[in-house]
Amino acid sequence: MLKLPGLIDPHVHLREPGATHKEDFDSGTSAALAGGFTTVLAMPNTKPPIFDLETLDIALNAAKQKARCDYGQYVGAGPDNADWGNNKSLPLRVAGLKMYLDSTFGELRLDDMTLWQPHFENWPKNISIVAHSESRTMAAAILFAAIYDRSVHIAHISLKEEVLLIKAAKERGIKVTCEVCPHHLFLNNEDLPPPNPPPNSTNLGEGKGGGRKEVRPRLATKEDVNALWQNMDVIDCFATDHAPHTIEEKDSDNPPPGFPGLETALPLLLNAVSESRLTIPDLIAKMYTNPKKMFNLPDQPETWVEVDEGAVYEIKAANQFTRCNWTPFEGWKVKGKVRKVVLRGVTAFEDGKILVEQGFGRDVRR
Ligand code: NCD
Ligand code: ZN
Repeated sequence: MLKLPGLIDPHVHLREPGATHKEDFDSGTSAALAGGFTTVLAMPNTKPPIFDLETLDIALNAAKQKARCDYGQYVGAGPDNADWGNNKSLPLRVAGLKMYLDSTFGELRLDDMTLWQPHFENWPKNISIVAHSESRTMAAAILFAAIYDRSVHIAHISLKEEVLLIKAAKERGIKVTCEVCPHHLFLNNEDLPPPNPPPNSTNLGEGKGGGRKEVRPRLATKEDVNALWQNMDVIDCFATDHAPHTIEEKDSDNPPPGFPGLETALPLLLNAVSESRLTIPDLIAKMYTNPKKMFNLPDQPETWVEVDEGAVYEIKAANQFTRCNWTPFEGWKVKGKVRKVVLRGVTAFEDGKILVEQGFGRDVRR
């Protein structure tokens, strides 16, 4: 039996408020515990999006009542909520500021760089800015960090050009950190069925299930995937970007992007350890030590995860707590299973069962 610290996932979408048919703080934090995570940081692209004190209260009240593991909530950067200097209490109550600099699921997006500027200028330097930025937008986000002499965390990097640029920026002392998602390490753009064909296509076989491949950033090439593995030392942390959409939505004509990931991340990464592609110290650094420091998260005394390193099993959506009812890793055989999770002295998960009530989870900023 291997003992790990309570893991941290700094990037999840729990869909509350507004889309609780996909997930909510109850099902999402149950999925987290089953996956070995005792802290999750929730993204603000909900309905409504979380962008001021009023919407923050909606999310935090729901979390307080329903979360079974510890949580933090991000606030989203919008076109007219950058007066953080006049609103000093809000940054202290959130996990960080999320900036959507490229298009993705939800309404929060800052197209124009003049809209980025006041956020970089006004957001407190000791609280995280997390950027959804891809390729050249990522380069621009790093330039903003350098100009405003503050840190920026780049979400879900997936490309060779991204990991190499971050490496070069770090070598020059720019305060940039980054995360990578298991799906960008274990899948490439040839692995899942192609996206839905155009409406006039006669190839019906392609359409069924094609939307399941949709995720932002998109799955990348084998060369990109190899570059992430080869530059593992540049990657500060793993994050699932758990982005559940129901299987009906994924198989519809207009499939939203996103994969669930909370319950598959640790088994996939432990499997990589069993294949000597990763080490346990790597795993602890990227799923506990580094994110704890980067997001300034509190200690969780008497908290640990027990893993059966030798247990081989098949990933099945039917066994998951996430409400979305599918996984891109269906049928994958992995070695390494979460047996037990103890959070603040209480057994929260054991042998497939959640043992703590809704409301057991605590706000990391309280
Ligand atoms: C995310 C979602 O569904 O909220 N989708 C995704 O493909 N990752 C949005 C996001 O993180 O970009
Ligand atoms: Zn995301």
